[in-house]
Amino acid sequence: MTSGPLRSTGAWELDAAEARKRQMLAEVRAGLERTPRELPPKYFYDERGSNLFEEITRLPEYYLTRAEREILLAHALEIVSITAPRTLVELGAGSAAKTRILIGAMQSRVANVTYVPVDVSEEFLQQTRDALLRENPTLDVEPVVADIGASLDLPATLAEPALFAFLGSTIGNFDWTGAVSLLRRVRAQMRPGDRFLLGTDLRKDRATIEAAYNDSAGVTAEFNRNMLRVLNAELGANFDPERFEHRAFYDEEHHRIEMHLHSIGAQTVELPGIGSIAFDDGENICTELSHKYDREAVDTLAATARLRVTHWFTDSKSRFALSVLEPLA
Ligand code: AVJ
Repeated sequence: MTSGPLRSTGAWELDAAEARKRQMLAEVRAGLERTPRELPPKYFYDERGSNLFEEITRLPEYYLTRAEREILLAHALEIVSITAPRTLVELGAGSAAKTRILIGAMQSRVANVTYVPVDVSEEFLQQTRDALLRENPTLDVEPVVADIGASLDLPATLAEPALFAFLGSTIGNFDWTGAVSLLRRVRAQMRPGDRFLLGTDLRKDRATIEAAYNDSAGVTAEFNRNMLRVLNAELGANFDPERFEHRAFYDEEHHRIEMHLHSIGAQTVELPGIGSIAFDDGENICTELSHKYDREAVDTLAATARLRVTHWFTDSKSRFALSVLEPLA
């Protein structure tokens, strides 16, 4: 038993890794015990998964990223002129390219801009900070490690006003209850002059949406199956990714893409700490929901979290929307 000064930094890091693994095991077990089975989409994103997602954003069928970038390029100056923010708090700081557009627009208005990327991965946050500082040495970068699905604790001293940004349609991964909780969590951190920029993919014809999640190059299928590789690497499971097929379809009633891994044949998988898991032929594991919105749904979601949509921007083909939200008293 070590304690106090005898405990090295290395031991703390091991504890953190151990805690993460226990948390992952608990979430994976809970999801796989459910009927139908499910796995949390945050486990797509190890290094390979993040690279596959980057590749997805460049696919001809995956319009979301390009549509959102089009809106930012056209309206970033207008968005920052609404509040002249001095701090940008980016939730799930993923998209460096989009972030740069916003930061650039902010810096054209105020001298000292603080960027607060919030992400689960400390390693990722460090890379983001290093990359941004190299090209933008006057930027103040203050990363915060947090799982925004569970908590959001920010330094109380962030320069006002702040712009909170949740881009990329990541809100789509949350069901209604989860989305309301997340917006309330953000709302609780907002001061009267702060604003919230929310990116949502919009409801549209089934063919366009389904093509975005069933690309002809098969990158999304690899991305989906990568979740099983992550479970193998992190938890010592023995999934054979080739024996699960990628399925993605649009559920029009719930306005959402459902992404599944479909068992090819009956098979048993060993997962240390959980045991043997038997999959029936054709059994599905749901790996992701991606909800699509319209103006009314965003208005209602905002109001439920004591927020109000003040501006609504879409791309030229009305595929994607950026909303500016203000806090209601
Ligand atoms: C990162 C959650 C916005 O839902 O479109 C892309 C992830 N999944 N292709 C989405 C994703 C399959 C993406 N989000």
